[in-house]
Amino acid sequence: MKVTNLLAVLLGCLAGVMFGGRAFAQTAPAAPIILKGAPVGAVKFGHTTHLKVAGRCVVCHHASKPEKALLAPQQACTDCHTKPATPPVTTNLQAAFHNPTATSGLCIECHQTQNRNGKAAPVKCADCHKKSNT
Ligand code: HEC
Ligand code: HEC
Ligand code: HEC
Ligand code: HEC
Repeated sequence: MKVTNLLAVLLGCLAGVMFGGRAFAQTAPAAPIILKGAPVGAVKFGHTTHLKVAGRCVVCHHASKPEKALLAPQQACTDCHTKPATPPVTTNLQAAFHNPTATSGLCIECHQTQNRNGKAAPVKCADCHKKSNT
């Protein structure tokens, strides 16, 4: 475990104590998250830059769905969206983030919009999926 991850865990425990041990008081992780489920390469996702653009957690962390209820408001996507999809959930790992050609989906549509406004958000496979992300 990296020192930064360890720190995040310790801070998380501290926050848990401060909020009376309720698992529901969540904060966005400060350190980037590396999603390692795709053989095409891992994806490094940072909350810090994204929160400035998205504004609200719910832009990505959708509300609880009747098919499978959330255990926490910002539960990890990969708990429920797996490859292949695990019933009762029907949206597989890839579809939770983008379509097979990466021309639409949660992560892509905002990037396309932002790029039209002069930002440099990745839309090509290799700009998100990198073997060097470990
Ligand atoms: C904006 C970033 C982004 C772009 C661009 C992107 N992906 Fe992904 N993709 C993700 C994320 C995040 C996941 C979830 C990965 C995980 O959980 O490890 C994912 C998941 C996948 C998966 C599912 C895992 C699996 O092996 O079944 C595949 C396949 C995939 N991407 C292929 C592609 C291909 C091919 C392209 C280009 C056509 C592409 N991606 C473009 C972010 C991106
Ligand atoms: C632009 C999209 C996006 C936004 C906005 C966003 N998140 Fe996330 N968040 C993610 C992704 C992607 C993951 C990684 C999920 C995974 O590992 O399966 C994640 C993971 C997390 C995790 C770790 C979950 C776990 O158990 O591993 C927490 C906690 C979290 N987010 C909290 C927040 C909070 C609080 C906010 C709002 C202040 C927020 N997020 C806003 C995309 C987002
Ligand atoms: C507790 C389980 C759970 C978690 C955690 C979860 N989802 Fe879902 N998600 C679902 C269910 C259930 C659906 C409804 C459709 C289905 O059965 O696949 C869904 C649907 C979706 C859809 C399809 C469009 C829609 O809203 O119906 C997308 C995209 C999606 N989730 C992305 C994400 C992302 C990104 C994360 C993490 C930031 C996440 N989900 C976390 C269970 C979950
Ligand atoms: C609300 C809009 C929005 C959403 C949703 C969004 N992004 Fe982004 N993303 C951006 C913008 C804007 C940038 C460019 C940031 C900059 O350079 O200032 C960016 C940049 C990135 C980068 C480049 C490195 C970085 O952090 O700057 C990666 C990788 C990335 N996004 C992955 C993802 C993934 C994976 C998802 C889906 C879970 C996602 N994004 C969802 C707006 C968004």
